[in-house]
Amino acid sequence: MPSTPLYGFSDTSYKTIGEEVGVRALVDRFYSIMASQRDYQPLFNLHPADLETTKDKLSRFLMGWMGGERTYQTAYGALNIPMAHAHLDVTPALVDNWLNCMRQALAELGHDAKFSDYLIQQLAIPAERIRLVSQQHQNNHQS
Ligand code: HEM
Repeated sequence: MPSTPLYGFSDTSYKTIGEEVGVRALVDRFYSIMASQRDYQPLFNLHPADLETTKDKLSRFLMGWMGGERTYQTAYGALNIPMAHAHLDVTPALVDNWLNCMRQALAELGHDAKFSDYLIQQLAIPAERIRLVSQQHQNNHQS
């Protein structure tokens, strides 16, 4: 008998995280961890000084990505996630920092470990794509 996946279909992830309030809480925790821990300073320093817009952008993006309302585009216009990061030099270490910081935020908020593992696995896919496009962009601009 095929097993039913726990997450990743329809809006199950969005419901599990606690919808908009849950996504915004995650993004707030993600950035407060990033701001306060020494290991994350190289990642944090790439961000604008005023984080409010970045937090709102990431929250809206993640809401749609998890199967909830797609409000990023109405608020900010079209988005291509790898291109939005192409101006950055996204190294493998920064990818690890980003995913670890997100994992820590999920754990601190008490989310179920299976759900958190699932989300991190899924987030690793766009993260790797961001790294590849960023590296291609850096190479093109060096030569
Ligand atoms: C792979 C490692 C990542 C790094 C180093 C990184 C870094 C950053 C930085 C520094 C910004 C602010 C850019 C600026 O204002 O100039 C940003 C914005 C953003 N990031 Fe990432 N990020 C990563 C992964 C991700 C992933 C996996 C997602 C989503 C699945 C994501 C979604 C976003 C969004 C939606 C924005 C706002 C983009 C915009 O509207 O301009 N990022 N990121």
